[in-house]
Amino acid sequence: MSKFNSSQKIGMIVTEFPKAADVFKEYKIDFCCGGDRPLITAIIEQGLNETEILDRVNNLYEKFANDLASKDKNWQEAPLGELIDHILNKHHAYLWAELPKISFLTTTILRVHGKNHPKLSKVHKLFHTIKMELEAYLTKEETIQYPAINKYENSSAEADLAEATGIIYELQEEHMGAGDILKELRIITNDYHVPADGCGTYQSTYAKLQEMESDLFQHIHLENNILFPRLFELRKV
Ligand SMILES: [Fe+2]
Repeated sequence: MSKFNSSQKIGMIVTEFPKAADVFKEYKIDFCCGGDRPLITAIIEQGLNETEILDRVNNLYEKFANDLASKDKNWQEAPLGELIDHILNKHHAYLWAELPKISFLTTTILRVHGKNHPKLSKVHKLFHTIKMELEAYLTKEETIQYPAINKYENSSAEADLAEATGIIYELQEEHMGAGDILKELRIITNDYHVPADGCGTYQSTYAKLQEMESDLFQHIHLENNILFPRLFELRKV
């Protein structure tokens, strides 16, 4: 019997099997902000082939399950401190390092190619909007939420948990905002298609923007579909 079916929620599938994200990315199925919906909803909405997608995910899973060398961490079970350390070291560190570089790149291609490709002005604006929003959101997590989680893990005090969960809705809304900008960037760049007269910098800018998208999807998935639900679960106990 197949492991996954289309009535399961997209985020749940990625939580159980992180590599499913590769297939979802390929079909542009939103697994971070839209992760709370059953897979079939996205399939119908986007006019996709249900059998094809399920086969891809299930075959990949089978291969993964047979691959004993695979060591993907189970973030549902790992201590919360370990999960936020992972998010910090992998995803926050990535954004703090890469956002200024991508800013320089989007400004450079705007100056060089903006006259022939006016859409680059919109790319520049969208990127700098997401950059500004991400910097504020990373700071909020690093100065308010994550310290509260660490405190709670040591104290088990209700007040610390309340502080950690208190800003979740705000953060979720910010994730949605980032997801919307990523979608707009995809549309305006025609899926990051570099025009024939685009130079190497043009190419590396679009490659970097795609890398950022990929990293953000994984990052938001870990928070929206794993970290936040685990915190809410603790409040119920
Ligand atoms: Fe984060």
